[in-house]
Amino acid sequence: MPSNALVLDVACGTGDLSIALFENIGARVIGLDFCRPMLELAAQKRPQLSFVEGDALQLPFDDAAFDAVTIGFGLRNLSSVDRGLNELRRVLKPKGWAAILEFSKPVMPGFRSLAAVYCTRLLPHIGGIISGSRSAYQYLPDSVSLFPDQETLAAMMSNAGFADVAFQNLTGGIAALHMGRRV
Ligand SMILES: C[S@@+](CC[C@H](N)C(=O)[O-])C[C@H]1O[C@@H](n2cnc3c(N)ncnc32)[C@H](O)[C@@H]1O
Repeated sequence: MPSNALVLDVACGTGDLSIALFENIGARVIGLDFCRPMLELAAQKRPQLSFVEGDALQLPFDDAAFDAVTIGFGLRNLSSVDRGLNELRRVLKPKGWAAILEFSKPVMPGFRSLAAVYCTRLLPHIGGIISGSRSAYQYLPDSVSLFPDQETLAAMMSNAGFADVAFQNLTGGIAALHMGRRV
C-alpha cells in the first residue's frame, strides 16, 4: 500500500484501530461511526485524524474513494452484513483491499467448548457485576453465535464481489481476519 494511502476505518468506535493504522503504516485515515460520543473520544485521542459521523450501511463517500477499508468488530453489529459488505466494496478503488476483523468460531472442539462457557456464562456474569449491565455482556455472545463462521463470511464476501478472499484465524479462531480485494 502506498505511504499516502487513504484508508477508511468503518465502525471505528473510539478510534483505536484508526490510530493504529495511522501509526503503523502512516496512512491517511478516516474513521467513521454512527455514534457521536465515540467519535468525540476518538478525536480527543488523535486530533490530526478525521472522524466522520455516518452509517456503515450507507457510507457518505463516493464510489472508489479509498485505497483500503477496515472494519474491526463492527460488521457483526450491522443490521445487514450483506449491505455492509456491498458498501465496503463500493467505496474501494479497484484492487483496493478490505480487511474485516471480527469474532468467529474457535476451530478446536475442546477450545470451542471452553470459549463457549467463558462467553455465555462467565463473561455476562462478571461483566454484569462490574458494569451493572448484564444485558450489554449478554449481547456479545448472542451476536457472536448469530454471526457467520469463517467459511460462510468468506463466501458472503465473494458473493458481494470481492476477489482473492482469504482469512486467518486468530487465537484459535476466537477472532478471524478476512481479506478481500475489489476487482
Ligand atoms: C465493538 S465496537 C468496535 C469499535 C472499534 N472498531 C474497535 O475495534 O475498537 C462496534 C462499533 O460499531 C459501531 N456501529 C454499529 N453499527 C454501525 C453502523 N450501522 N454504522 C456505523 N457504525 C456502526 C458502533 O457505534 C460501535 O462503535
